[in-house]
Amino acid sequence: MLMVDLIKKKRNGETLTKEEIYWIIEGYTRGDIPDYQVSALMMAIYYKGLDKRETLDLTMAMKYSGDILDLSMISGIKVDKHSTGGVGDKTSLVLAPMVAATGVPVAKMSGRGLGHTGGTIDKLESFKGFRTDLSEEEFINAVNSIGIAIMGQTKDLAPADKKLYALRDVTGTVDNMSLIASSIMSKKLAAGCDGIVLDVTCGSGAFMKTVEDARALAQEMVSIGKLSEKRVTAVISDMDEPLGFAVGNTLEVIEAIDTLKGKGPADLLEVSKELGACMLILAGKSDNREEAKKMLDKTIEDGSALSKLAEFVKNQGSDEKYVYDTSLFDKASLKYELKAHRDGYVSEINCEEVGNASLLLGGGRRNKEDIIDHSVGIILNKKLTDRVSKGDVLATLYANDKHKLREGSERLKDAYVISSEPGKKNPLIIDVLGE
Ligand code: URA
Repeated sequence: MLMVDLIKKKRNGETLTKEEIYWIIEGYTRGDIPDYQVSALMMAIYYKGLDKRETLDLTMAMKYSGDILDLSMISGIKVDKHSTGGVGDKTSLVLAPMVAATGVPVAKMSGRGLGHTGGTIDKLESFKGFRTDLSEEEFINAVNSIGIAIMGQTKDLAPADKKLYALRDVTGTVDNMSLIASSIMSKKLAAGCDGIVLDVTCGSGAFMKTVEDARALAQEMVSIGKLSEKRVTAVISDMDEPLGFAVGNTLEVIEAIDTLKGKGPADLLEVSKELGACMLILAGKSDNREEAKKMLDKTIEDGSALSKLAEFVKNQGSDEKYVYDTSLFDKASLKYELKAHRDGYVSEINCEEVGNASLLLGGGRRNKEDIIDHSVGIILNKKLTDRVSKGDVLATLYANDKHKLREGSERLKDAYVISSEPGKKNPLIIDVLGE
């Protein structure tokens, strides 16, 4: 086969056969097909799409591109959670210790930032010395000894997705339903959990901008899960403004820690509890969401979720002192306050642009090789429907480079819309599918 023929085939809107999809994925994983040809194919897929059969074949080709984790050495029902991407979305950092504190094992595999969205692995690396590159054995031992481990995708687990994820991040080919569904489901199926809770975000900060698209993506992933005999729950959640107030790796970690101390933003806690409750149900710990949420509340009230986070941070090579004293995290040296140009209400926040502003400050990657700066980011002083007077601080940006601070603040300026009417907030939890 010739890669250029397959690129043209998709460019012309034809469907790829199973053999062709496996040939591409195997060749790309081995390094025989270069990034530039795969980038062209991704762009063709972006415009022409994949049908359900092609999406399933792509998922399975990527799942079997490397090792399949065997978690049978961990007792209990193992439930993983994955988000389709958000801005200020630090729910994993909140719910993983809460769920583990209820006694349900958390064996979670996470990713890095993608496009304008953040990633749990980048966030966790804000803890100095924190190791996300665990071997399979270390991962299993950690879950067996303290009930929680989070690792990055190893080079052997769905390596095709690992390569494609990094490529799509910098080639404008992330926000395609089939590419997202196959990316997420391939690695989740390879990661060996018994159940998967998916947070399918929708709104201006998500890859799916409408509820209809988010629902279609959720259904696609639930049906791929069913075909693989995995229990999958998909929560459709709102991402029309960032979750919480903090955007940027260390700032988000601090907000997550504050949430476990009972001092977090209500929206972040609500979404974290909804997803956590779905995890407890899949794990057989509870049979209804309200009861499960009460169990999670208790882990904050009695401090067990915070102690679990400290234990987890220490167990993966960092120091638990950060959990108890967040002033120890590195801080950015420069600050800029974005102010309201008129009186009114915050009627719109372009959430994707908030993520892009954080990326430009140095918190995300402009190209595959970029090293991110964990300490930079944004604190939103005003959120949707808030009343503002001219001169009020809308958001505070933190950076370590004057040029990047200017770029980030220019980008953020256009993200805020102030009007005479307050506009509206969407419900945070839009639907739950697949239970
Ligand atoms: N998360 C992933 O793992 N992959 C995507 O394509 C989007 C979000």
